[in-house]
Amino acid sequence: MTNTLKAPAKAPKANAETDAETPPPASPLLRFYRSSLGKKLITGATGLALVAFVLAHMVGNLLLFIGSDAYNAYALLVSNFGVVYYAFELALTAIVVLHAWVGIEIFWRKRKARPVGYSTYQSAGGPSYQTLSSRTMIVTGSVLAVFLVFHLRTFRFGTYYITQLDGETVRDLARLVIEDFHRLPYVVGYSVILLLLGSHLRHGLWSALQSIGLLHRGIRPLAYGASGAIAGGIAIGFLLLPWAIYLGWVG
Ligand code: HEM
Repeated sequence: MTNTLKAPAKAPKANAETDAETPPPASPLLRFYRSSLGKKLITGATGLALVAFVLAHMVGNLLLFIGSDAYNAYALLVSNFGVVYYAFELALTAIVVLHAWVGIEIFWRKRKARPVGYSTYQSAGGPSYQTLSSRTMIVTGSVLAVFLVFHLRTFRFGTYYITQLDGETVRDLARLVIEDFHRLPYVVGYSVILLLLGSHLRHGLWSALQSIGLLHRGIRPLAYGASGAIAGGIAIGFLLLPWAIYLGWVG
């Protein structure tokens, strides 16, 4: 019997897909950014920062219920922070862009991994917390991004009325807001947007708390309910002013 020595089998070649991939990035920061966990943490942390801003903005708006002077004084106080205020605006813009960009990346990554259209999914309800809110994050987020451009044009860069406040000439932001919300299309448009904001925040807040690891199993149902309540509270808090102005209760 002849012993034929077989040539050792060649080490399996890395599959073509792996070959085609770019080598893993050297920088730990970039590796973190590219990982699924990193992306969830980025959208979670930026999302929570945006919730804090939106909540503060909503409370600031309610000052118009006290009166135009209170509202204008608040706007003046904020703008008097000068360079700090501009730095804040810059940081806010960066946070919005990062949140949206990474959110879109997560959406595409999930879509590639699971090519079944969102619309064909049944609500899983129960412990997976899949709801209409969670499945439409990309839609509600995109609409909110477009809304922001319109919103800033209307108010931040809108007509610069002036008024007197304690003998000082200041911007009359209250007049601009009151004028705009006397128009029904604005009130209806804002109402739709604020419902979408509520939906986006309902899932976003809950998902962010989970991503950054603040929720252990026991308090999940409670946190889920609380996220919904906070989201609803923010949407309603914003909604009050346009309708109160339109109905003539304010202004
Ligand atoms: C009834 C609802 C709302 C009213 C009446 C309102 C009013 C205003 C006003 C008057 C400004 C200009 C402030 C200034 O120039 O000092 C402003 C800025 C802004 N609003 Fe709203 N807003 C509303 C809802 C929202 C929502 C839902 C969002 C986010 C999703 C939002 C995000 C912003 C941002 C990012 C700015 C720019 C902040 C800055 O540059 O300081 N607003 N809003």
